[in-house]
Amino acid sequence: MKKLLDLITEEVVKAFEACDYKGEYGKVTLSNRPDLCEYQCNGSLAAAKEYHCAPIQIADKVVEELKKSSVFEEALGVKPGFINLKVSSLFVQEYLRKMAEDERLGCHKAENPRTIMIDYGGPNVAKPLHVGHLRSAIIGESVKRLGRFVGHKVIGDIHLGDWGLQMGLIITELKERKPELPYFDESYMGEYPKEAPFTISELEEIYPTASARSKEDEAYKEEAMEATYLVQHGHKGYQAILQHILNVSVADLKKNYASLKVEFDLWKGESDAQPYIPDLVAMLKEKGYAYESEGALVVDVKEAEDTKEIPPCMILKSDGASLYTTTDLATIVDRMKLYHPDEIIYVVDKRQEMHFVQVFRCARKTGLVEDETGLKFLGFGTMNGKDGKPFKTREGGVMRLENLIADINEEMYEKIAGNSEIGEEEARETARIVGLSAIKYGDLSNQASKDYVFDVDRFTSFEGNTGPYILYTVVRIKSILNKYRALGKDPDSCVVGVPGNETQKSLMLLLARFNGAVENAFEEAAPHKLCAYIYELANGFNKFYHETKILGEEDETVRDSLVAVLVLTKRVLEICIDILGFEAPERM
Ligand code: ARG
Repeated sequence: MKKLLDLITEEVVKAFEACDYKGEYGKVTLSNRPDLCEYQCNGSLAAAKEYHCAPIQIADKVVEELKKSSVFEEALGVKPGFINLKVSSLFVQEYLRKMAEDERLGCHKAENPRTIMIDYGGPNVAKPLHVGHLRSAIIGESVKRLGRFVGHKVIGDIHLGDWGLQMGLIITELKERKPELPYFDESYMGEYPKEAPFTISELEEIYPTASARSKEDEAYKEEAMEATYLVQHGHKGYQAILQHILNVSVADLKKNYASLKVEFDLWKGESDAQPYIPDLVAMLKEKGYAYESEGALVVDVKEAEDTKEIPPCMILKSDGASLYTTTDLATIVDRMKLYHPDEIIYVVDKRQEMHFVQVFRCARKTGLVEDETGLKFLGFGTMNGKDGKPFKTREGGVMRLENLIADINEEMYEKIAGNSEIGEEEARETARIVGLSAIKYGDLSNQASKDYVFDVDRFTSFEGNTGPYILYTVVRIKSILNKYRALGKDPDSCVVGVPGNETQKSLMLLLARFNGAVENAFEEAAPHKLCAYIYELANGFNKFYHETKILGEEDETVRDSLVAVLVLTKRVLEICIDILGFEAPERM
């Protein structure tokens, strides 16, 4: 369906043209004075320059023309040259009827679906999943869902950090503790045990211990580096340990991400890119892109228009080791070869921006991607505590994701159990559902690139711009619809009528903005725009709810029309929260 705003613009463009002005001046926007009008067109101001007359003359002339249109209830020329518009009730009614009949509520489905890969999550294997990785998961998941809703083929890849020193550290520490294990016996020829020699909690203790020790003990660090080299170069026993680490970690990660309703299509990692590195390096040398600089192998990526220094992209260190950049370049090779994406979006901490500038430029320059392939860095800011510093536990340590979720759920449970008569079990389940909305909405409602303060009290509040407030609105509608059903009636068979008053009309106009809101959020990969839209919609609905007798309305046609608006509001909100990655409970 065409967007309502576009239909209105078309009408105004026609009117400009009928008055012999260029149609391009007929662009309409939402009114910035909602007390005066619903939409406005400021084109007469610009047109006046071209046609050498007073803007108001043009506005008045166009307004005369607009009065003939059935789209508008009111068109007014206002000095110096604005056109203030109110659409007709019948026009709104018709638009909403069509929208309600459409399964996609008026949203286009991409005609030429693109393949979009999203690189998000990015946890590091064997290190506990902490809040630093929360934003990537939440934002990436939502961008993925948004893309799918719009009709694209979207592939989410977790891109595990499974190729670093942490592997060597764990192997070294394990060797200290359990030297008798067959992995450390160089003459061992048999099969290695299927069972991992550690649990996830042990693993999570082993890594920080080893990491701390390596900072004090030079010999220990050397050994860890040696082990890292060996595991990366085919040492059988160490590779068996690596596999154990991966299995144990991935099982735990899956559990954690599931509790966040975050699902990846691919569980690939940095290690999957390694096999491509030798050929990649050879190609870069052969084609003359890479050269040696102070022993290292680099590719220049600076461009003439640069205003700041962009250092060369490092491919190999002087000792021949590959780097994070090398891995990301090789991952692009893997992705282009196996999935042929039209675009790759990286949802990563914005502090890594320079790394991606280098990687993207290098990939383009050296032909790893085609000219048309999009490479997009969606950098996000830091999640801070109320003190404005990166979010920590009360004791000042790194907050584990699991604990954060548990804390929020507890907070939600207290509220819900205190508020209603629902039983313990349902209250716990509801707390989980609402808690997730608090976390996700708290994050997504901010522009991704900005830092934000993770404020548990605010995020879990049922009032204000929060997830629970949105859910509360959905639950409120569900409850009215249930009562309507209890009267033996079917809400889904109700049809939208003309709005009965201004509040109803503005709610209906808000609903009509749904397709535009989705389109806009997708184009800018900006879930916060969808949040802003549903917050406005929820406010519009709650105002309507407080002012309107719904089931108490005596005129059945009017009542059913109100119910139809309720149904539509619920559908819009439910689609939006699903795109944002959470859901609403039955009651709360
Ligand atoms: N594992 C990385 C980190 O924790 C994030 C990975 C981001 N994705 C990428 N393709 N580099 O910082």
